Amino acid sequence: MPINILIIHGPNLNLLGKREPEIYGQQTLDDINNQLTAIAEENGVCLKILQSNHEGEIVSFIGENMNWADGIIINPAAYTHTSVAIRDALGAVDLPVIEVHLSNIYQRESFRHFSYVSPIAVGVIGGFGARSYKLALECMIEMLEEKD
Ligand code: DQA
Repeated sequence: MPINILIIHGPNLNLLGKREPEIYGQQTLDDINNQLTAIAEENGVCLKILQSNHEGEIVSFIGENMNWADGIIINPAAYTHTSVAIRDALGAVDLPVIEVHLSNIYQRESFRHFSYVSPIAVGVIGGFGARSYKLALECMIEMLEEKD
């Protein structure tokens, strides 16, 4: 059985490349998704990728894929700091979660220092720009392969 992983990008991440590039880098979301897809293909892993600006859409996507997915990589973006609903969805599906951030949220405004998601995540990777996602995917694949 191939390993199946959900990649979820929260609000405003569709603007990457144009959005505050000094914080979030020059790469677009397509660039990041292409890199992740290449890593997945090299490892025989299937990805389903969602970017959404809507909390409920992210909640539904998590629930709808709970029987398909073996793990979830999520950058909840601003919902990191506000969304009990996304945290509850992630907690409900009982899958390993890696929380990702492009920026180091602890170097930034204090309202970004709290995450609803971190307590239910296996781990958090942030501060490495697009590399944060790459590291998260490599970790997730290794963890799931060890479990098999
Ligand atoms: C972010 C950090 C969040 O605080 C912010 O709201 C984002 C992106 C990051 O990837 O660094 O939209 O999750």
